[in-house]
Amino acid sequence: MQHDINHAAGNHAAGNRLDQWADHYAARTAGMSASEIRALFSVASRPEVVSLAGGMPNLAALPMDAVGHLAADLLGDHGTTALQYGSGQGDPLLREAILDVMELEQISGHADDVVVTTGSQQALDLVTRIFIDPGDVIVAEAPSYVGALGVFKAYQADVVHVPMDADGLVPELLDATLGRLAGEGRKVKFLYTVPNFHNPAGVTLSPERRPQVLQIARRHGVLVLEDNPYGLLGFDSGPLPALRSLDPEQVVYLGSFSKTFAPGLRVGWALAPHAVRDKLVLASESAILCPSAFSQALVRRYLEQHDWRHQIKLYRELYRERRDAMLAALEDLMPRSSWTVPDGGFYVWLQLPEGLDAKAMLPRAVTERVAYVPGTAFYAGRTDGADDATHDGRSHMRLSYCYPEPERIREGVRRLAAVVDGELTVRGTFGADATTGGIPGVPGRQGVESPGPDLQ
Ligand SMILES: Cc1ncc(COP(=O)(O)O)c(C=O)c1O
Repeated sequence: MQHDINHAAGNHAAGNRLDQWADHYAARTAGMSASEIRALFSVASRPEVVSLAGGMPNLAALPMDAVGHLAADLLGDHGTTALQYGSGQGDPLLREAILDVMELEQISGHADDVVVTTGSQQALDLVTRIFIDPGDVIVAEAPSYVGALGVFKAYQADVVHVPMDADGLVPELLDATLGRLAGEGRKVKFLYTVPNFHNPAGVTLSPERRPQVLQIARRHGVLVLEDNPYGLLGFDSGPLPALRSLDPEQVVYLGSFSKTFAPGLRVGWALAPHAVRDKLVLASESAILCPSAFSQALVRRYLEQHDWRHQIKLYRELYRERRDAMLAALEDLMPRSSWTVPDGGFYVWLQLPEGLDAKAMLPRAVTERVAYVPGTAFYAGRTDGADDATHDGRSHMRLSYCYPEPERIREGVRRLAAVVDGELTVRGTFGADATTGGIPGVPGRQGVESPGPDLQ
């Protein structure tokens, strides 16, 4: 006991700080910040809370028996290779099979130019690692996927956002931003875009805009990073041609099996121009030696032996039903708000009535047993050509419909609508400042916040 007390006193004398290594960390860790909304989400994961926050795929539609048999056969037949180290670039036969998946988006590539990664998240990390020095510019949509912003900040990039509308990234605004940055002598290392069923905005880059965006990028000498985990999850029509299919030399394409098969396997990939591919492989080897041989072998067996196209169809039907439930509930219940209408994927982007602040409102929502992700999580820097409040996401929220049952979605929207109603009443009664900034424990936004893996 005496020993414990002395030990505690020693710690105290050593630094009188929570973290004795605080002045040892690399400067890049300053850009890595956990969100204060994480604390709220530990409450939000309670069963009584309807979470419209998480972006987790709904695996209820996956035939676990069939996957279990594939895994058992794999270990029985080829256990010693499946559990061994593998190639840094990834299993050549899986890379071949990935070409068939990408063919659905009219991509023709070579297996040699595919790099298998630990989810597309690792591919985001690798691309950023090989292109970004501190202070380099990345142009990204406003809003952008929170997990990508976290990577960009970790490598100390300067993110400049360009607005989207219902048809995705706005080409004229992209052109203007790239022109302005060139005029300032700033080199843009790449354009980060999620063209299909955007996370968090729910919109899709229209077919007309695709060649325009590529032409603008080409004219300004900017590489395009096309992040496409949701492209095969369209509800109403077949997949659009990938940007990569239109301009192979200008685009690094990222794909993933997380949403079309299972995220727990952590298998994604990059398809890159040859020289970029070389650097990605070297960077990946230094980070992880090789992607999981077991996961890759299981995905390969799944693609060979399971009707994966049919499985994607089942997922699309499941998500479409939930999308419809959310849109109907919003239409019926949500006061004075507007939202995007996604044709696929997992997300609706909702704009609150003027003056309401989604982050300030979150504690009240969680108290009312509903959770969402406030829009500010999806912004990392300034948005070009916009200086009003709607362009830092504070008046927006991301609502996910991928996980809860349709009746739970409706119940969640009903609770959320009641919270919005309450905020509007407070504003009406106490004036314009009543709903912003006055919520204890919700400080202003600082840097990029990561709400955590289950909320990506
Ligand atoms: C736009 C986007 N990119 C990348 C990822 C990472 O996916 P994974 O690493 O599971 O392939 C996600 C996950 O939600 C995402 O939404």
